[in-house]
Amino acid sequence: MLDFLSQTLSNFKHTGAVWPSGGRLAREMTAPLRETDRPRRILEVGPGTGPFTARILSHLRPGDEFHVVEINPFFCKVIEKRHLAPFRERRPDIEVALHEAPIEDAPIEGPFDHIICGLPFNNFPPPLVRGIFKRMMGLLAEDGDLAYFEYAAVRVMKAPVTSSASRRNLRRIDAHAKSLHRRHRGSRRLVMANFPPAIAVRLRHRDP
Ligand SMILES: C[S@@+](CC[C@H](N)C(=O)[O-])C[C@H]1O[C@@H](n2cnc3c(N)ncnc32)[C@H](O)[C@@H]1O
Repeated sequence: MLDFLSQTLSNFKHTGAVWPSGGRLAREMTAPLRETDRPRRILEVGPGTGPFTARILSHLRPGDEFHVVEINPFFCKVIEKRHLAPFRERRPDIEVALHEAPIEDAPIEGPFDHIICGLPFNNFPPPLVRGIFKRMMGLLAEDGDLAYFEYAAVRVMKAPVTSSASRRNLRRIDAHAKSLHRRHRGSRRLVMANFPPAIAVRLRHRDP
């Protein structure tokens, strides 16, 4: 908890939250992993201290492959030491890899069956948000899905206390999210048992 808070204070733009996600949100974000029984390639983007990572690792089976992309070197050390290294010891038969890089140009290749993304999009400029979604959709398998989350009503709450330029950005991010939702058969699940309450969003790559 303290390691997450220290990064929030030193790097709010990238971290974008004061608290790591809780177990209920992690469960909702990883729901697609419980819906398939074939081998999967899974990508997590922006794990922080790893609440989703721990849950993803617990779902891995022989034949699966798991890649993690994190921009912050401090969080990379935490993820490697706390989650990936112990997992590799227990399960050397399953490939797990960490990439210390921004997702925009991380050296990874698709297709991935599931992408689970914890990025704080409301902190980013709209062109970056569009670029990141374009990259992630490009990495997704034809029948793959992408999960991301946002804090409930965050844009409505932020709007009155930010500058007009920031409000314009929030509106553009909102419009982009709505367009993705329409184009990729989006679904949204409110998770009240999180601090703050959050909405888990799921997008599909293509229509069946
Ligand atoms: C809101 S925190 C979420 C952490 C964790 N998933 C959770 O829910 O508690 C956002 C994470 O995304 C990472 N991040 C921000 N921008 C990134 C980028 N462009 N590429 C990869 N990771 C990024 C941050 O360093 C941080 O670990």
